[in-house]
Amino acid sequence: MNQPVFDKEILYRAIQMTAAPGVDWLENLYIFDSTDSTNNKAKEMAEEGYPHGTVIIANRQYMGRGRMGRSFHSPSGLGLYMSVILRPDCQASQLMHLTCAVAVAVINGLRRELHTPMGQGPMIKWTNDIILPPWKLGGILTELSLDASGKVRYAIVGIGLNLYHRRSDFPPELQDTAVSLGMCFRDCPPKHHLINSILYELHRIDQHLDDKGSIMARYQDYCYTLGKQISIHQGDTVRHGTALSVNTDGALVVRYDDGGVGIVNSGEVSIRGMYGYV
Ligand code: BTN
Repeated sequence: MNQPVFDKEILYRAIQMTAAPGVDWLENLYIFDSTDSTNNKAKEMAEEGYPHGTVIIANRQYMGRGRMGRSFHSPSGLGLYMSVILRPDCQASQLMHLTCAVAVAVINGLRRELHTPMGQGPMIKWTNDIILPPWKLGGILTELSLDASGKVRYAIVGIGLNLYHRRSDFPPELQDTAVSLGMCFRDCPPKHHLINSILYELHRIDQHLDDKGSIMARYQDYCYTLGKQISIHQGDTVRHGTALSVNTDGALVVRYDDGGVGIVNSGEVSIRGMYGYV
């Protein structure tokens, strides 16, 4: 397994030296030893006026956050914790697919570094989990700041991936559901290569973010949830069905076991056979 890079200066130089041509975002790259959450740091910096494409990376997060108020375990050196400030010129309603677009960029970047053929390697569990089926490898947390008219002031896209953990590095409650790249791939790529590949893909997708059709077609190719039996937890209600597709706004289209078809925008979706749901 490649050894984690702990020193932020070395990581900074390694990223710059192996950067893909054309990714001008690296002019605004900031690496911290430790922060509460790179999304929080990115928000502060966005409020201070840092530009579109500012990249914030931390070696450790002591309050890493996930979707639905969950925490994201972010121990020193073992994972990739990165947030990017985006300033798209559009209404929030045009960015419903943003988390999906970021997930596609992450999978594209991972597949390139891991040389995994289609149908193998990392996939997406709707909406924002990056998985090595059946385990969780990481996730995406997208947060928007809007003005009074619903126009986007900025978006923060946060990406967390488990890279070098051994099973015992995860807290007991995650040991049966979480995985790291190093646990599955003997030749786990170095962190700076992963960062550059993911940023290259994110930068590319950002340039045609309005092409929802092709982004969501690729999302569906990568979405492990589709075709699976699922349960949908919304508040106190649990419904069962089969995941059919993901629409261009990133919502999950479900055929319920009672025969009806519906659209799920939020809530927790469990896949039968994963994360202890049988
Ligand atoms: C989830 O599992 O629901 C999403 C996890 C997202 C984690 C990343 S790590 C970088 C960024 N900073 C955070 O606090 N969260 C995201």
